[in-house]
Amino acid sequence: MLLYPIKKIIDAGITDIIINVNPGEVQLMADTLGDGSKYGAHIKYVEQRGGAKGLAHVVANAEEYLRGERFLFFLGDNIILGSIKKFVERFQNEELNCMIALSRVKDPQRFGVPEFGAEGQLVRTIEKPKNPPSPFAVTGIYLFDENFFEAFKTIEPSARGEYEITDIITWYIRNGKTGHEEITGWWKDTGTPDALIEGNALIMDDLPREHFCCECELSESVQIQGMVSIGKNTRINADVLIRGPVVIGENCEITSSYIGPYTSIGNNVKINQTEVEHSIIFDGATIDTTRRIVNSLIGLNATLVDYTRTHPKSGHRLIVGDNSFVEL
Ligand code: G1P
Repeated sequence: MLLYPIKKIIDAGITDIIINVNPGEVQLMADTLGDGSKYGAHIKYVEQRGGAKGLAHVVANAEEYLRGERFLFFLGDNIILGSIKKFVERFQNEELNCMIALSRVKDPQRFGVPEFGAEGQLVRTIEKPKNPPSPFAVTGIYLFDENFFEAFKTIEPSARGEYEITDIITWYIRNGKTGHEEITGWWKDTGTPDALIEGNALIMDDLPREHFCCECELSESVQIQGMVSIGKNTRINADVLIRGPVVIGENCEITSSYIGPYTSIGNNVKINQTEVEHSIIFDGATIDTTRRIVNSLIGLNATLVDYTRTHPKSGHRLIVGDNSFVEL
C-alpha cells in the first residue's frame, strides 16, 4: 500500500519524490523503498519536525526542497483507482496555481469540504464542517505552485491545533487560479482500520495477474486456488488451502490452515491451524489459534494463541496496544 501511491505518482510523470516520515523512522522507510532507483525515481526522506501540526505544516517542513517548485502533494493513505495523470496535466496545461481532486462521499463532515457559489465556482474549503456545504470531500491529492509558502505565512492553527491544508486551498481560491476535478472512480482515505482492510482488498483486485507467483516450495498436499503470491523462503506445509487473491511475504511458515481471499501477509509470519480471511497481517506476527480470523488487522510482531491454561476457567488474557479495537 506504501508503494501503490508512489507508483501512481511515477505513472503521472513525477519522479522526484519527497516522503515525509515520522521522527525516527527515516531508516525504516529508506530500507523499505530505497532511493527510488528501482522504480525509476529519486526518493528523499524528510523527517517531520516540530510534532504533528497539520498537513500544511508537513509541506512547509519540506520547504528547502520545494521552494520555487510546482508540486503534487499526495497523502500516502489515500487510494485512488485509475490514473492521476489528467489532474497533473490540467494543472500544467492551464497554468493553474492550485488544483484539487474532489470525491462525492456519504460523510463529508469527516473531510475537508468545498463550498461552491451560485455560479458553481469554488468559494472556499472547510475542514471537517459540522454542516457540510456540499457532498464532496477534498481528497488528499493536491497540486500547488510556488506560492504555497507565501500562503503558509498567512494561516493560523485551527481549533484542533493544526495548520490545515484546507486553509491553504482557500488562500489559493482567493489569490490565484484554482481548478477542481471530480474523481468519479473509487477513492478512499484509508485512515481507519476498516478502510485499510477494504483498500487492501481493492488493491489486490487491481494488481496485474503477473504479480501473483510463487517463489517457494510447496508441500504436496497444499491446495492453491486463484491468484496467490508467495515470497522467497516461505514454507507452506501440509494441510493448507490458500484461496486467492492472497499475498504472502518472505520467510513465512504456514501449517494446517486456511488462508482466504483478500488476505495480505507480511514477512516472517507464522500461522498454524488457523482460518484467516480478508485481513492484513503485518511482519513477524504469530497466529496459532483454532479460531477464524476475519476482517482483521494484526500488527507487527503480534501473537495470537488459544487459551491453554486450566485455571481460571474463563477469561481472556490480553495485551492490547494503543488505540486498538478487540472484538471477543
Ligand atoms: C486530511 C485533510 C482533509 C482531507 C483528507 C483526505 O484529513 O485534513 O482535508 O479531506 O485528509 O484524506 P485527515 O485524514 O487528516 O483527517
